[in-house]
Amino acid sequence: MEGRARTSAAIFILCSILLPGASAQHERNGGLRVGFYDKTCPRAEEIVAEVVSDAYKKNRGIAAGFLRILFHDCFVHGCDASILLDATPSGGETEKESVANAKSLRGLEVIDAVKDKLESECPGIVSCADTLTFATRDGSVLAGVPHYPMAGGRRDGLVSRKDDVILNMASPDLPVRNITELFVRKGLTQEEMVILTGAHSIGIAHCPTFLYRIQDYNETHRIDPKLDAADAFKIISTCQQVSSEKMVEASLPLDAQSPFKMDNSFYKNLLKGKSLIESDSAMSDDPMTRPIMERVAADEKKWLTMFGRAMARLAAVDVKTGTKGEIRKNCRFVNSHKFSSTPVRLLIPATLADIGQNLSSSDISSSEVIPSDNIGSAQDFIISMT
Ligand SMILES: *[C@@H]1O[C@H](CO)[C@@H](O)[C@H](O)[C@H]1NC(C)=O
Ligand SMILES: *[C@@H]1O[C@H](CO)[C@@H](O)[C@H](O)[C@H]1NC(C)=O
Ligand SMILES: *[C@@H]1O[C@H](CO)[C@@H](O)[C@H](O)[C@H]1NC(C)=O
Repeated sequence: MEGRARTSAAIFILCSILLPGASAQHERNGGLRVGFYDKTCPRAEEIVAEVVSDAYKKNRGIAAGFLRILFHDCFVHGCDASILLDATPSGGETEKESVANAKSLRGLEVIDAVKDKLESECPGIVSCADTLTFATRDGSVLAGVPHYPMAGGRRDGLVSRKDDVILNMASPDLPVRNITELFVRKGLTQEEMVILTGAHSIGIAHCPTFLYRIQDYNETHRIDPKLDAADAFKIISTCQQVSSEKMVEASLPLDAQSPFKMDNSFYKNLLKGKSLIESDSAMSDDPMTRPIMERVAADEKKWLTMFGRAMARLAAVDVKTGTKGEIRKNCRFVNSHKFSSTPVRLLIPATLADIGQNLSSSDISSSEVIPSDNIGSAQDFIISMT
């Protein structure tokens, strides 16, 4: 009897702590709402889940691909699908063309397929930013994260600039303090940074992300002394024994033990000093971040729950809601653009780009076009989260 009374008192205290938290959460979400499409497109989230599930059966790599696209989208102009734009009315190079993204974004065609299906069911209702967010949630769930609620209501941005990407991204050799600063600037905590870094439990990294660790690492060490010997050997056989052209595209799984499963083996290996990415390794040495890793390495369920919560917070960074932005019809172009049915990238001469904001869409569509999978230079992949 006494025990029961104590339990309900405990529950009451818990509720009164949680309730103010919940409304603060709502404000931070800047007008986003779970079930946003319940009235306007009731099957929206179901449609996303179906298309993603079909695509996942063919290629499990898309789960990591989506996580990376969303992360790179949210950190640059907020979660507004600016990363999905192939061209903007200004005609400048877009986020996609940054070294952080070019040729290394995986799953874009799945996002197009999801959006097409949504447009045929509810034209003009579901934004590309929400499409990407729901698809990312569903991909992570297929990879093992328990289903978590994801609010909707984001609108799509009109701006996408290549040069804005690097300033907001973490390179693999950035110190923990600086990466933390990037996250804090977006309203996320250091703990959330560590929890989200667990996305490296799935996915791959390309050679330039870690090759420097075995090639004249610094003045005193040719090889990074923090690098595990077996990992160094893997890097040598994957990256050094191929042509420089192949090297750029060659990759290694970030969690070789379970490359498609969201589990905490990534953290366990990190704590043992095994990590391909230098900044991940630094987080396992840092006195602030190591204890967080130790906690989630000891409790996988806890990490997975925290991951879902952190994802919802990441997906609320600097969102556009209400009357800001627009609901794009095609995720690759803003609505004022004319576009053909096959995705194209518009090449606009620099002189025209300067006055691009004043061009009519017919001027722009008469410019030279090239296929969109032709984007990016060979020099690439310097930056990798996921
Ligand atoms: C990290 O941050 C410090 C202090 O804010 C700064 O001086 C330093 O240049 C930064 N390092 C890198 C690699 O950006
Ligand atoms: C090279 O890196 C190692 C390991 O991080 C460090 O101990 C050493 O001081 C570095 N050397 C220089 C010259 O920075
Ligand atoms: C674009 O149009 C605006 C208003 O129509 C005008 O003020 C501006 O000078 C134009 N910009 C260029 C670069 O032509």
